[in-house]
Amino acid sequence: MKCRICKAKAVISLRYANTAFCREHFIEFFERRVKNTIEKFGMIGKNEKIVVAVSGGKDSLTLLYVLNKLSKLMDFELIGITIDLGIEDYSRRSVEIAEKNYKRLGVDYTIIKLEDYGFTIDDITKYRVTGRVCSICGTAKRYLLNRVAKEKGASKIATGHNLDDFLQVVLQGYMYGNLESLARYYPVTPSMPGLVGRIKPLVLTPERDALVYAILNDIEFLKMECPYSRSVTSHDLKMALFYIEEKHPGMRFTMFNTYIKKIYPLIREAYFKGDMVLKKCIICGEPTNAEICLFCRVRKKLEKLKSRACAD
Ligand code: AMP
Ligand code: FES
Ligand code: ZN
Ligand code: ZN
Repeated sequence: MKCRICKAKAVISLRYANTAFCREHFIEFFERRVKNTIEKFGMIGKNEKIVVAVSGGKDSLTLLYVLNKLSKLMDFELIGITIDLGIEDYSRRSVEIAEKNYKRLGVDYTIIKLEDYGFTIDDITKYRVTGRVCSICGTAKRYLLNRVAKEKGASKIATGHNLDDFLQVVLQGYMYGNLESLARYYPVTPSMPGLVGRIKPLVLTPERDALVYAILNDIEFLKMECPYSRSVTSHDLKMALFYIEEKHPGMRFTMFNTYIKKIYPLIREAYFKGDMVLKKCIICGEPTNAEICLFCRVRKKLEKLKSRACAD
């Protein structure tokens, strides 16, 4: 197999595009696609300050590398944020790896410890807080990223969600009929008072491509899985996507375009109830649609459970 551009030996073949590339031309192709995604969805403007949320996994580190390159080309500022979730071993390794990569690139960064805000993810299972660990963890990540991005004066938060992640959420939305959530599910979430906008610059990047990019750039990333494994449904939906793509190369892009061009506009029209009117949490002052934000509610629950455990 030869590179489509220079005819040297190819290192990757992309069945969905019926093409193959050498290392240099794959990297060029990959970075151009991310740049096109940013432009197509108007994700980043000149002189903006962008927070990139780095977990230490292949997707967010690949995103860090590409955005670091593009920040010079497209004139925006980049700062990395990694949250130490307090998951034994897993969080220590993920912070170590993220830090190594920030230093290698010379990108400014902040490590935030969830523990400094009152609890760790391990506490959630230790004290048996009701609810799924992953969704409480998701709440904590969203809360801290938003809070710290605001403190840093950033205008957007970029996350490493790739094409497969995006489609999996869309399929899950169809399956369970979560149409109000889908009415807000798009590669860009605009900023609102108190809420920093979100962008997914890898939304047109298949998962395998992100992995190959990381390997070809010698990016050290975390290979360990989070011990609080995700829902079986989301894993199975990813496998289903993999199967469909194997049989019909390019189908994921078709699904993405169908969603963006045909389905999302209809769902948005019918189910978008307007921007939520947000109040300020009476405890922490962060935006919420209740008296007390979800994050503070988890904190309060844990305080109770911890003091009960001490009394026993
Ligand atoms: P996940 O929800 O774990 O699939 O992660 C989705 C995205 O959220 C990642 O690609 C990162 O951009 C971001 N993210 C996840 N975990 C962390 C973390 N511990 N610190 C900072 N960003 C994170
Ligand atoms: Fe949050 Fe696994 S990373 S529960
Ligand atoms: Zn080539
Ligand atoms: Zn709060």
